[in-house]
Amino acid sequence: MKKVVVLGGSGFVGTQVCTAFTRAGWQVTVPSRARAHAGHLLALPSLSVLEVDVHDEQALCDTLAGHDAVVNLVAILHGSKQAFEKVHVALPQKIVRACLAARIGQVVHLSALGVDAVQPESAPSMYLRSKGQGEVVLMQAAGSGAGAAFALTILRPSVIFGAGDKFLNVFARLQKVLPVMPLAGAEARFQPVWVQDVASAVLRSLKLANLGAPKVFELCGPQVFTLRELVQLAAQFSGIRGGRGRPVIALPRWLGYVQAVLMELAPGEPLMSRDNLDSMRIDNVASGNVPGLSHLGLAAASLAPIASAYLGRK
Ligand SMILES: NC(=O)c1ccc[n+]([C@@H]2O[C@H](COP(=O)([O-])OP(=O)(O)OC[C@H]3O[C@@H](n4cnc5c(N)ncnc54)[C@H](OP(=O)(O)O)[C@@H]3O)[C@@H](O)[C@H]2O)c1
Repeated sequence: MKKVVVLGGSGFVGTQVCTAFTRAGWQVTVPSRARAHAGHLLALPSLSVLEVDVHDEQALCDTLAGHDAVVNLVAILHGSKQAFEKVHVALPQKIVRACLAARIGQVVHLSALGVDAVQPESAPSMYLRSKGQGEVVLMQAAGSGAGAAFALTILRPSVIFGAGDKFLNVFARLQKVLPVMPLAGAEARFQPVWVQDVASAVLRSLKLANLGAPKVFELCGPQVFTLRELVQLAAQFSGIRGGRGRPVIALPRWLGYVQAVLMELAPGEPLMSRDNLDSMRIDNVASGNVPGLSHLGLAAASLAPIASAYLGRK
């Protein structure tokens, strides 16, 4: 039985990735900062959860020992420059050293659409810049050709939808309570991809992986939507105001930043940060320069039938 460590396995994507691995007969190890975060995974067969601080390099090395592959899904969406660097750059550096020590043969890393691994600094947000630097760390360590240290696949998804997402579900929830939807970045464009397609892509990457140059795939759905359209679809699918939803008030950039500052000051995870707005300065759609899901033998699912089912149930 092949063994994989799924870093960030307790999260939204991780849950589907772990489910896909266990169905395919893999033995899965999920390190988590707190066992309670991964409690919902414990029912899966051949999966174990370990309480581990993945930033502790020795603990990470111990966790990886004896496994064939590593999937890295650990990321944050909000935080300081230092926090982004710790999670998106320093952690991949530790993963690389731990993989080399444990002789891991295959690594799959979830990055994000909009990342530029040639010039990471050119990206518009701390999130995208640090994600780009993380890709560079992994690509340089993996190497290529006969001297390759491990087979590396980098997957860059657009925004990911599915039951339990923090995206269409949030738009639906907000429209239940607000009289209007004040929306920053209303015309920003996205190409949402289904979480099950992302999970299938992770599994497929490991099946196809070989020691060549690192492989990069952009994971996008079949359709492009503006943020305004996605907000309206969330209302339509969840039947808010008979499916008409709330009037969307597109905020000018400066007012969007004011809204983001207020959200950052509120307790808990902000719904939107200034850095998120910076990420939306570039479209979140396939570049066309990088292979996609079809190159992994997968047909991307459409948003409407799936999202209407899980939003409609609510
Ligand atoms: N969701 C999307 O729309 C989207 C779009 C593009 C790219 N992605 C990428 O896809 C990957 C998975 O995203 P996701 O939506 O599944 O994220 P998620 O639900 O937030 O899960 C991330 C996991 O990482 C761990 N984690 C979070 N912060 C951490 C920290 N500071 N130190 C150590 N571990 C930490 C958490 O595990 P524990 O709490 O168990 O430790 C968490 O379950 C990420 O690389 C993300 O950038 C996601």
